[in-house]
Amino acid sequence: MSSPIVQPNDVPHPVRQSVSGDMVPDRLGRPLRDLRISVTDRCNFRCVYCMPKQVFGKDFRFIPHSGMLSFEEVARLSRLLVSMGVEKIRLTGGEPLLRRHIERLVGMLSQLETPDGCPVDVTLTTNGSLLAKKARTLFDAGLRRITVSLDALDDAVFMKMNDVGVGVSDVMNGIEAALAAGFSPVKVNTVVKKGMNESEILPLARHFRNTPVIVRFIEYMDVGSSNDWTNRQVVPAARIVQTIHAEMPLEPVEPHYRGETASRWRYRDGGGEIGVIASVTQAFCRDCTRLRLSTDGKLYKCLFATEGFDMRQLLRNGTSDIELAAAMAALWRQRDNRYSELRGQGLPPTERKIEMSYIGG
Ligand code: GTP
Ligand code: 5AD
Ligand code: SF4
Ligand code: SF4
Repeated sequence: MSSPIVQPNDVPHPVRQSVSGDMVPDRLGRPLRDLRISVTDRCNFRCVYCMPKQVFGKDFRFIPHSGMLSFEEVARLSRLLVSMGVEKIRLTGGEPLLRRHIERLVGMLSQLETPDGCPVDVTLTTNGSLLAKKARTLFDAGLRRITVSLDALDDAVFMKMNDVGVGVSDVMNGIEAALAAGFSPVKVNTVVKKGMNESEILPLARHFRNTPVIVRFIEYMDVGSSNDWTNRQVVPAARIVQTIHAEMPLEPVEPHYRGETASRWRYRDGGGEIGVIASVTQAFCRDCTRLRLSTDGKLYKCLFATEGFDMRQLLRNGTSDIELAAAMAALWRQRDNRYSELRGQGLPPTERKIEMSYIGG
């Protein structure tokens, strides 16, 4: 049974007035709109671009259970952040479906409404390996859209990317189960790493053309410090679009909303759409409205931030809703992060970057 959720409109009025999203843009004028919550730092994959085996081996220290925020704590922060402007919540990880009873958290978050009474858009990014088993339960808990990572259609290439021997059919079964359960849209995320899977761009595009599934090709990013990223391993989004366009003509589509990470393209013959996420070659910091919450309760103002703001301590020492909201509003107000843009202008990378499996994909 999920515990009852207090709605954002139940947050005391003075807080709503002083922290309402539109009233607290960050230092670059960006409102708070998206919350990305990492519910576990563990994963059953060891993708070479995210959790390479040599770093995340048996000696790696993951967050102990006692250090993780409880679902009630996550829901409390989420409710306050929704009162401050958040309209979309994405559950990530690590692999979120490894967190026990994740559907209970989905149920709690799906009940949230924005101050003007709209349901919060709750979604989740998964590697798909457990999705065939969990799709129906997640849907029944209130989740309506989902994103599945899949880097290749060829088993050998896929296994080289995930490095744990999971085959494509396991993920495909998950995607099928999600469609059968009623998820819409179902998106597929493909990270393209040069020398590993650029040969999979066309097979993936062909496979999902004329289906309800939207594939987004993602430039390999310099996130974290464990993947030994170099610029030479990036396939620019423009090249990905050209490759597909040469065989299946594309035309651009307007973004769904300001700050959308993906540029959208549709097949001219009506065969559906694809997206490209060009965080390296065309940084989208200018419209970045995302705040991240790690499994152990730290808030990060940027995917590339080196320090997080500890909410767990505040949550566990009796801090009131008003004080929690005020602390988070102050954090957002000070925000001036735009790492990808600065890196694009030649700024040297930060030394110790947070891993994506910890901060959330
Ligand atoms: P929709 O809600 O479906 O529009 O998805 P989204 O735009 O939130 O995209 P998703 O969460 O699927 O993110 C796709 C990929 O974009 C991630 O896996 C990252 O590689 C990249 N990405 C997402 N957010 C950010 C961000 O804030 N900064 C950077 N640099 N990359 C990001
Ligand atoms: N570059 C781009 N995307 C990444 N992800 C993880 N590591 C990287 C990286 N280095 C994204 C993948 C996956 C999500 C969980 O995180 O898109 O779908
Ligand atoms: Fe796991 Fe996703 Fe990272 Fe791959 S990209 S190791 S599936 S968290
Ligand atoms: Fe947002 Fe930071 Fe990503 Fe730029 S690099 S889009 S500021 S999370």
